[in-house]
Amino acid sequence: MAESMKGLKRTARCAEISKEMLEKEVTVMGWVQKNRIKGGIIFVDLRDRSGIIQIIFDESTVDKAVFDKAYKLRSEFVIAVTGKVNLRAGAVNPNLKTGEIEINAESLVVLSESETPPFPVEAGIKTDEQIRLKYRTLDLRRPELQNALKMRSKISNITRQFLEEEGFLEIETPILTKSTPEGARDYLVPSRVHNGSFYALPQSPQLFKQLLMCAGYDRYFQIARCFRDEDLRADRQPEFTQIDMELSFVDEEDVIDVNERLLKKLFKEVLDVDVTLPIQRITWQEAMDRFGSDKPDMRFGMELKDVSKVVEGCGFGVFTGALENGGSVRAINVKGAGDMPRKKIDALVETAKEIGAKGLAYIQLKSDGTMKSSFTKFLSEETTSELIKACEGEANDLLLFAADKNKIVWDVLGTLRLQLAHEFNLINEDEFKFAWITEFPLLEWSDTENRYLAMHHPFTMPMEEDLPLLDTDPGAVRARAYDIVLNGNEIGGGSVRIHQNDIQERMFKELGFTEERAWENFGFLLNSFKYGVPPHAGLAYGLDRLVMLMSKSESIRDVIAFPKVKDASCMLTGAPDLVEEGQLEELGISCIETESEEN
Ligand code: AMO
Ligand code: AMP
Repeated sequence: MAESMKGLKRTARCAEISKEMLEKEVTVMGWVQKNRIKGGIIFVDLRDRSGIIQIIFDESTVDKAVFDKAYKLRSEFVIAVTGKVNLRAGAVNPNLKTGEIEINAESLVVLSESETPPFPVEAGIKTDEQIRLKYRTLDLRRPELQNALKMRSKISNITRQFLEEEGFLEIETPILTKSTPEGARDYLVPSRVHNGSFYALPQSPQLFKQLLMCAGYDRYFQIARCFRDEDLRADRQPEFTQIDMELSFVDEEDVIDVNERLLKKLFKEVLDVDVTLPIQRITWQEAMDRFGSDKPDMRFGMELKDVSKVVEGCGFGVFTGALENGGSVRAINVKGAGDMPRKKIDALVETAKEIGAKGLAYIQLKSDGTMKSSFTKFLSEETTSELIKACEGEANDLLLFAADKNKIVWDVLGTLRLQLAHEFNLINEDEFKFAWITEFPLLEWSDTENRYLAMHHPFTMPMEEDLPLLDTDPGAVRARAYDIVLNGNEIGGGSVRIHQNDIQERMFKELGFTEERAWENFGFLLNSFKYGVPPHAGLAYGLDRLVMLMSKSESIRDVIAFPKVKDASCMLTGAPDLVEEGQLEELGISCIETESEEN
């Protein structure tokens, strides 16, 4: 039976009670973690968001009615208890903040009862995530999720405070806005008033923050919700949160400076970790050449080696063919893996093929000094030994080679490098390794669209010295864009923006926009650009990713209170869902096809 609070006031949260309060009377309220009876004493572990405290109901001292009520308590009942703080009569629990004390209960109010929960509300459970997400309120009571969400709140607060002190204004931008091309797929919202027209949910506040710069607000920030209808992965959600900022009269150095200080403060205050400044910077080209990735995990070596020169004209068609097609041959050296069984090597080849390679060539330098290879039979002895030397190969090393277009070679070796580092335990999980990746390509060729796409977004400034290449070799133009990478994750990205109308127009042209279409889509920006634009630059973090890494959570879903699953649905509410026919009619929408049952 649920009782009311009867004017009772909570005096402290469970884990806020300490030895300093011995002999004091306190009232705590929370959920029953567990209860057990031993020698005429009922022990209840009471939990709230601060942690757990032990409560005892002693049959020999407490009212019989209170004892009987306590006897009926079950997991997840919500109760209020008043009693005295004592040192524990029994064993001390060193794993608990309140492990030396307990509350000797005098009164008990059962505020709410609970059915038996579908899984235990405790740390480290193995329950299927789908079930956890369905019963998310129970899941959210568990310490891992509570700690992650507390950390998230702290990170947001420190960020707000820091940016305010740095002269940033927090300004909200619209959620119902205009669909603009050149990003991920939009989420659309139909308009009732304008049947047939749609708002789009923002993929980021990008254009609005640039408009705020045009409007003279100088430094803006927002903890902004963003929406992208893309295929989900472990580090992606259809709605996610950015720490978004934009600054006027600055260049990349100013943006990097303010953000390095922000990161330093966050890591110190949240984790007591010292981030050494300045954070190292490497160009996109160097990142790809050394790590095969634009978000390299630099906590370990196993760097890529370009062996194209060594194998030029070597007689192995796979290698020479790739070079003739403008590609490259690159390698990684997996130290200590020279005796890897054939089956495992075959699995690596399969992985390479899944990524898009035609194969993966290898040289096994076994620990007994012998050698096994899938291709050295095509090479002269001299080339083989040169190749091994170029890879710094020695006994008990496994050399893996990919030959193809650069993009595929980087992708294959970059992925294998990561996979093998995990397998061989090369990663220090306690380390936080940051890097700025700079000088990204401005444009990226799309085979499917048969045109260039903006690698960051169409408002990113090309590097001045590369401007002449816009007409002759657009693919070679570098951008004034930067990403901040942590332990192999892109936690943020930004750029110096184009603030000159003529360059913006050239950029749209490069992206295949006619002038009319550019104005149709981005007219509101181009118009603002007519009336005085300050040079500006900015950056946005993926807050969810940052919290995931700082809290060492396994998935982005563990740092979001109510996340969505892989097919973008919500296990808790069942969204997305069908709606009433009448709602659709009002919106002027009729569904021509719904998913069949089998799907
Ligand atoms: P960008 O698209 O790189 O830049 O996004 C910035 C950061 O947001 C995070 N992020 C995501 N996190 C979770 N789920 C997703 N689906 C997702 N997509 C992106 C990443 C990424 O680094 N307007 C620009 C920023 C700017 O130029 O100032 C932008 O949105 O951590
Ligand atoms: P093949 O001559 O096709 O049997 O290939 C000989 C070896 O080269 C096999 O181990 C293949 O997996 C490997 N191989 C094939 N294509 C490539 C490629 N593009 N890059 C690296 N190795 C490859």
